[in-house]
Parts: sequence; structure tokens; C-alpha cells
Amino acid sequence: MSTLVTGATGQVGRRVLTELRRRGLSAAGASRDGEVRLDWTDTTSWEPAVEGVERLFVTVPMASGLTDRVGAFLERAVAAGVRTAVLTTAMGTENGPPDSEQRVLERRVRELFDHWTVVRPNWLDQDFTEGVFARLARSRKGRLELPLAKDAAASFVDARDVTHTVVAALTEEGHHGREYTLTGPAAVTFREVVRMTKGTESPVWRYKKVDEAGFYFRATDIGWSDRYVDTLNERFRAIANGRAAVVTDDVRRALGRDPAPMAKFARESLH
Ligand SMILES: NC(=O)c1ccc[n+]([C@@H]2O[C@H](COP(=O)([O-])OP(=O)(O)OC[C@H]3O[C@@H](n4cnc5c(N)ncnc54)[C@H](OP(=O)(O)O)[C@@H]3O)[C@@H](O)[C@H]2O)c1
Repeated sequence: MSTLVTGATGQVGRRVLTELRRRGLSAAGASRDGEVRLDWTDTTSWEPAVEGVERLFVTVPMASGLTDRVGAFLERAVAAGVRTAVLTTAMGTENGPPDSEQRVLERRVRELFDHWTVVRPNWLDQDFTEGVFARLARSRKGRLELPLAKDAAASFVDARDVTHTVVAALTEEGHHGREYTLTGPAAVTFREVVRMTKGTESPVWRYKKVDEAGFYFRATDIGWSDRYVDTLNERFRAIANGRAAVVTDDVRRALGRDPAPMAKFARESLH
């Protein structure tokens, strides 16, 4: 009755694996560098990874061009007896072009598995401590430089709420066929986030708006691909036009409680 957690060294996968084990459930973490070796680009790693697995948590890096390979892996997993899959994509995926990587993945999961759930998180609170914003700020001496006004806002969600939703979908009845768009309880501006992180050990402690060309220069300077930067720019546009500030009640729908506010994350995680 084991669960295979892909992306197990990433922000969400790592937490999902820990939570499953905390609950005493059998789970294995898979990635190129995980305890189970799984590389989407190496078909020889697929068969051993899904042996004896009943449930799958699927998470694929954004803008990685891996959709076809992951689709083929999912077919293999079903043939090997996996019946349940929970997939994370991102808030707004359902409104993207039908051939976008994440929409294609959502379709494959719906078609292939007897039990499936799609989880679409907004930007994570943890992006400021360990994810994309932290990496950018570290490369600029603590200054987060994005092509967005200081007062641009998003309903950032705590990765722990994403984790609990994924774990509920993997382990409880009632989540099959559901699509959850997960947000925090309120939209928060970058100005407000920087106020929370100032004077802490957060990698982000200042903010500056740059234009798209300036952002491109900074992002490629730390090794991000054009494709990844394009995807980030699309997601920034969703912040700029207010779409990422929308608050949903899907954490409550999935877990029966409200999502954690960002201030709680800041209190607990930043010192
Ligand atoms: N961060 C956000 O704000 C955010 C917001 C909305 C949605 N999401 C979605 O949430 C999901 C997880 O995001 P995340 O931020 O947790 O990702 P992440 O931290 O970047 O983790 C990506 C994971 O994928 C693994 N990986 C990369 N290339 C691989 C390959 N070729 N074969 C197998 N595994 C590979 C990495 O492990 P190895 O390097 O060890 O292989 C890592 O465990 C994604 O679907 C993302 O779109 C994230």
C-alpha cells in the first residue's frame, strides 16, 4: 500500500513525504537525487520506481519540457497497478492554452487514473525562504528584483497547506475528481512581505521593481533557462493583472479549516 512521492527533494514533495511518514504510512521519495532514483528522462529508472506502488504524488518542475516523458511514465505506472494519482500544477493552469505543459499533464492524469485529484497552488510563502524569490534575492544581496510594482499582490499559500491537501487526497475518501486551487486567506503585497522579512534572516529583505529586460538579465545570470523565465513572466503577469490575488475557499473545501495567513508563516519561519 505504498505511495511514491515524485519531486521528493523539492519544496512540496519533501513535505508530502515527511507528512506521510509522520502519519506512519509507507512512502518512498523519488527524484534524480532521491532515495528512489527516478529521472523522467531515463526510462530505465521508471519500472523499478513504481514496483509495488499503489498511489502516486506527481510533481513536475515548471517549464521543464518533460510533459511527454512524464505522460509515458504515468502510462507505465498504471500498467504496473497504480490506481491513484494526485498532481500539482499551478493556480490558473485551467485557463492557460490547451497545449500548455501543465494542462496536458492534468488531462493525462484525469484520463489514466481511477482516482485522481488536481491541486493548483498559488505562489508559496516558502518561495521567500527557499524557492524562486529566495534564490533571486540571494544573488542580489537580499534585494528581490521583479518586474512588478511593490503594491502588486498575491494570495500566497503556505506549502504546509498544500502538503496537507495532497496528503488528504492521497489517503482519504472524497477527493476523487476534485480540482483544488489553493490560496492563502488574503492577498499580500510585496511591500507587506518585505515588511515582514526585514531584520530577519530571510534571504529577502528589500524589494525593487525592474523591467522585463532587467529581470531577464538577472534570471539568466543565475542560470535559469529562457523557457523558465518566460513561464515566470507569464505568472508575474497574473500577479500584475490581479488574477493571483484571488482568494479561494479550496483549503477549507479540502481540509475543513481555513488556510494559514502569511503572517503566521513569517512568525514561525523567520527569525
Ligand atoms: N513554488 C511555487 O510557488 C509553486 C507555485 C504553484 C505551483 N507550484 C507547483 O508545485 C510543484 C512543485 O514545485 P516545487 O517548487 O516544490 O518544485 P521544486 O522545489 O523546484 O522541485 C522540483 C523537483 O523535481 C525534481 N526533478 C527535477 N528534474 C527532474 C527529472 N528530470 N526527473 C525527476 N525529478 C526531477 C527535483 O529533484 P532532483 O533535482 O533531485 O531530481 C525536485 O525534487 C510544481 O508542479 C510547480 O509547478 C509551485
